[in-house]
Amino acid sequence: MPESIERLFAEGTLRYSQVWEDHLLVEDGLKAGPGDDVLSIASAGCNVLGLLLRDVKRVVAIDLNPSQLSVVELKLRAIEHLTHEEFVHLLGIREGMDRIALYEKVRPHLSERARTWCDVREGDLKAGLHWSGRLEAFFKAWRVGGLERIHTAEEIETMLSFDDLAAQKKYFDDVFGNEGLKREIAAYFTVERIGGEGRDERQMRYVAGTDDTKEKNARLAAYFFKRFQTICTATPSRRNNYLESLLTGRYRSLEHVQTYLHPANYAKLKGLVSRVELVNEELGSYVKSQPEGALNKANLSDLFEYLDEATCESMYRTFGERFRVGGRIIYWNLFVPRAVPEHLHALIAPQDAEAKALYARDRALFYSAFHIDEVQPR
Ligand SMILES: C[S@@+](CC[C@H](N)C(=O)[O-])C[C@H]1O[C@@H](n2cnc3c(N)ncnc32)[C@H](O)[C@@H]1O
Repeated sequence: MPESIERLFAEGTLRYSQVWEDHLLVEDGLKAGPGDDVLSIASAGCNVLGLLLRDVKRVVAIDLNPSQLSVVELKLRAIEHLTHEEFVHLLGIREGMDRIALYEKVRPHLSERARTWCDVREGDLKAGLHWSGRLEAFFKAWRVGGLERIHTAEEIETMLSFDDLAAQKKYFDDVFGNEGLKREIAAYFTVERIGGEGRDERQMRYVAGTDDTKEKNARLAAYFFKRFQTICTATPSRRNNYLESLLTGRYRSLEHVQTYLHPANYAKLKGLVSRVELVNEELGSYVKSQPEGALNKANLSDLFEYLDEATCESMYRTFGERFRVGGRIIYWNLFVPRAVPEHLHALIAPQDAEAKALYARDRALFYSAFHIDEVQPR
């Protein structure tokens, strides 16, 4: 990985306080289940917890960014030491309890790293961590300064209320996806803004395949509107927690949120969190350091987006050689197409039909493609 990107992720800003990658694609794409030794990008931990609920043997949650690991650790220890009501209040998903008092209950069980990180973030803890990362703040500014200027609270609620896809599509086409929305997306989701406020300009260096900023912005605007249209029309909006989080910055009920937040799964989750191991390392180096066969599944987020082709190829090879036969890796592409090169297919083979079918159900905003690759018999 280029040194500048590695430094960027290791800097320690909390970039994500929730994971904006559809957990169902991770779990189904990996066919996660008992016996699996899973390596997962930690990020904000949501998909690590989703994987646990599939009863996997263990999850190694890895991240270059120690802040991300501190948030994941806080969640793990909170699940162990708080009730479900307290847990969702601590995260900011429900209102009414004193979050600092809840944090004090979890604090003695944290490592020094996580404790130190949390202790200096009283403001974020009071507000609730689930919407406190850099990306969440970036979305909030769009919501308040853009979306809410063109749509009333009632229109936003209506957009989020559908089970019937035909009625949902009609509402998007007739009301929600209007010229105003197009304009607000184009004005906000620009290279400069995404680079400067949401992601980081060093993450944008491969974006959109042109050096011309105006052209890049036109492509970005078209891409994001199209993607927005898809997530607003392709799957029932009432069950899309990612869309709800983006459009409102909250969850109305816990009925359709990620499985790890469901009250009914909490007792099970409490019994599983000890299966998570937190690792603050670069993922490629970590895999190389593991004995052959120690791992068989990996959730790689959009990791390859930041890597040049030679580094990607070397990583695909490492997975093909080190993971157990039949093991799987999943990942997304954003603007940079990345896939296993053909000459490595005998080692690790793309499962394109399956990945495409799952991508059609992707409920999250960003990504342009989803990949599943399977380790071949050696
Ligand atoms: C890959 S990023 C992607 C999130 C978001 N979709 C985006 O594109 O901005 C998610 C997490 O991966 C971590 N990360 C990125 N590259 C890594 C690597 N090579 N090893 C370990 N963690 C890495 C980052 O620190 C971050 O917390």
